[in-house]
Amino acid sequence: MYRSHNCGELRMEHVGQEVKLSGWVQTSRDFGALTFVDLRDRYGITQLVFNIDDDADLCEKARKLGREFVVAATGLVRERSNKNPNRPTGDIEIEVKSLDILNASKVPPFTIEDDTDGGDELRMKYRYLDLRRGPVQDNIIFRSQVAIETRKYLSDQLFVEVETPVLIKSTPEGARDFVVPSRMNPGQFYALPQSPQTFKQILMVSGFDRYFQIVKCFRDEDLRADRQPEFTQIDCEMAFVTQEDILNTFEGLTKHLFKTLRGIEFGDFPRMSYDEAMTRYGSDKPDIRFGMEFVELNDVAKGKDFAVFNNAELIVGICAEGQADNYSNKDIKKLTEWMQRPQIGAKGLVYVKVQADGTFKSSIGKFYSDEDLKTWADKFGAKPGDMLFILSGETEKTRKQLNELRLEMGRRMGLMKEGDFKPLWVVDFPLLEWDEDLERFHAMHHPFTSPKKEDVERMLSGDHETMKQLRADAYDLVINGVEIGGGSIRIHDRALQEKNFKLLGFTDEEAEAQFGFLMGAFEYGAPPHGGIAFGFDRLCAVMKDVYSIRDFIAFPKNNQGRDMMIDAPSPIAGEQLEELNLQLDLKSEE
Ligand code: AMO
Repeated sequence: MYRSHNCGELRMEHVGQEVKLSGWVQTSRDFGALTFVDLRDRYGITQLVFNIDDDADLCEKARKLGREFVVAATGLVRERSNKNPNRPTGDIEIEVKSLDILNASKVPPFTIEDDTDGGDELRMKYRYLDLRRGPVQDNIIFRSQVAIETRKYLSDQLFVEVETPVLIKSTPEGARDFVVPSRMNPGQFYALPQSPQTFKQILMVSGFDRYFQIVKCFRDEDLRADRQPEFTQIDCEMAFVTQEDILNTFEGLTKHLFKTLRGIEFGDFPRMSYDEAMTRYGSDKPDIRFGMEFVELNDVAKGKDFAVFNNAELIVGICAEGQADNYSNKDIKKLTEWMQRPQIGAKGLVYVKVQADGTFKSSIGKFYSDEDLKTWADKFGAKPGDMLFILSGETEKTRKQLNELRLEMGRRMGLMKEGDFKPLWVVDFPLLEWDEDLERFHAMHHPFTSPKKEDVERMLSGDHETMKQLRADAYDLVINGVEIGGGSIRIHDRALQEKNFKLLGFTDEEAEAQFGFLMGAFEYGAPPHGGIAFGFDRLCAVMKDVYSIRDFIAFPKNNQGRDMMIDAPSPIAGEQLEELNLQLDLKSEE
């Protein structure tokens, strides 16, 4: 009734056929005798032509069409005299015989074009219009394809898709929980899952062997381009596996997705230990599309009159190839200020320019001879024209700061090339992280992660310092500097899990109250198991060379965690509050 074809499929072979198309009016151009209308649907755009000599009334009707009117047009396919090579349907047009206006439209608040004039907030408010734009629709369709290919790959590998509950009890995984009051249990709350972690482990105890779920997760944390309060994971768990089995399975999934959806084939993914990643890149998610690796200078830069270096725990730098001439004193000052912003917090930035005549120009030239600086330059393998940037201070902080500078230089120097994908596994994470301020341990991944086999004894009997050295069978998949996924081999033994909770500061009672069900399950034949979760939104974005996940979420939240279209969150009625036993508490706070 509405269409014989879609707006993207008509070609020269259809010339002479009578067709009916339905869609939205993209543009309408009136040339007096002729009126042209571009009709758009999900599949493409087709040009409609109305000729005043054929049917004056029809032409008049076409002239009145506004942008985004919904119409159905019947007519003959004919060859265009003025072809449009940029459009798949550009060889033909429809000579319209009849036109139904199915719905009118107000003038949209921004143009529904590939490049729109609408700002972020406006597009979020009118998300239904933004979602009409080709590139946005392409992203959402791409996401659907990634989900379908993921399901295909994992079900071929005998994974079972199981849904886990959304109303649960909180799991400590680093972020705050979103909570939901329970009407039937006054004063009690459910939490929305930060991930289905404990449920998937329970499924392994139950013998499902291989589980997956493409699942919504909720975390009440500060938002960034790659973080949303509700996001999706490809969540998996496997029984009777080692870390090696999990890495191979999910490297396989990643290769399958890139091959089928991007036509890109990868060799084996490199692996790097956490320690190595921190030493070479100052990050546990290094972007290895480019080098500019860290070079440590402690052995050559100490012992002169420069107290800052003499007192530093670490002196470390990078070599920006060919950049010496690109940085005037003013540019260096600006870059130093950029590094000194509170977000990065560097105290200063030392530079050394390797000049064409073999001499050096440096902010600390008065403390070091050219001979000294040559030793440094040799360590970097620096050539004339290159520029060294050097930071010093406390090891962990300095590495983090230099990581920011390396990434910034990578951006400025155009080293993060589109279409270049460099995956790697980062492995051997520490089990525990010591928090100096709070004087307590945090789980580096989560409390269910197992120490490496060879570290189990040390964990059960070792002292405080030993705990800092424990390594876990925990791993992250990183692509182009983005943490795509993370997972671990789990503890499946009650005593070891109890010990871990203790190290993390839980009393026996707290551990029992929160995770008694899991530790209880471990006492009924829990198999060795482990798993991983990919950030699905991030994976889709990175596969398309985009680094904001919002573009791949049909209805995302803004940076304040608001859905601008439905205007959520919002207050609820007094009655509803009362039913939930919340009103009194809120009033007493006022
Ligand atoms: P983790 O917390 O590392 O592991 O999360 C797995 C992956 O989910 C993605 N991710 C996010 N994506 C968008 N917005 C967010 N707020 C957000 N937070 C995380 C990341 C991350 O790598 N249960 C464990 C997995 C396991 O051990 O099996 C977990 O959730 O890409």
